[in-house]
Amino acid sequence: MNSQLWWYTARSAGVVSWVLLASSVVWGLALSTKAFGRRARPNWLLDLHRFLGGTALVFVVTHVVSIMFDSYVSFGLVEVLVPFTGTWHPTAVAWGIVGFYLLLAVEVTSLLRKRLSKRAWRLTHYLSFPLFIVATVHVLAAGTDRQTFLLRAVMGVTTVAIVALTVIRLVKADRHDLMTSPKPSPSSRPRRPSPVAPR
Ligand code: HEM
Repeated sequence: MNSQLWWYTARSAGVVSWVLLASSVVWGLALSTKAFGRRARPNWLLDLHRFLGGTALVFVVTHVVSIMFDSYVSFGLVEVLVPFTGTWHPTAVAWGIVGFYLLLAVEVTSLLRKRLSKRAWRLTHYLSFPLFIVATVHVLAAGTDRQTFLLRAVMGVTTVAIVALTVIRLVKADRHDLMTSPKPSPSSRPRRPSPVAPR
């Protein structure tokens, strides 16, 4: 077998996983900002968002397993799971390892969504933002193909789209908060001075 096959597999699976991850974030933000309109959304839109995230995890696992099989640098189970234990660009690889755990947390809590409180699920789902940042830094720090124009262009355009959608999401959330902020309860309203009793 071509000795470089695992290296090519690791690189291509890495790029595919980043693209799937970024697409899942874009799709999720498009859903939450109601970019598809205000009417009830068909289920397949949400299913596609879930599918993109799940497939990203499958490709990350393929990426990591191929790196372990590649003989150019030796990566064992400890080196791919514990940051800074390997000798090959430890910081660049550590970003990837942290990204892997964040992705795992987002995916596992999405599968267990019905058993979690809405707040717990939402808080873990917000890890998708640091996950995207960490994975992007990892690609730029570790990738052989990071100098490629096509990869840079795809990453640049996707990052701009994610930043723009995040800003829209935050503005909409703010407006929603303003419109739904609770009215002061009767007990918290200032009391009218009671009429002075006649002497
Ligand atoms: C969210 C998780 C991850 C994503 C999205 C990701 C994605 C990528 C991408 C796109 C590249 C660049 C490929 C290239 O241009 O050649 C890369 C490189 C690399 N990644 Fe990851 N990765 C992740 C997790 C990990 C983990 C957990 C490890 C653990 C060892 C790892 C180790 C590496 C190594 C060693 C390279 C350099 C490969 C090379 O170009 O020679 N990655 N990764």
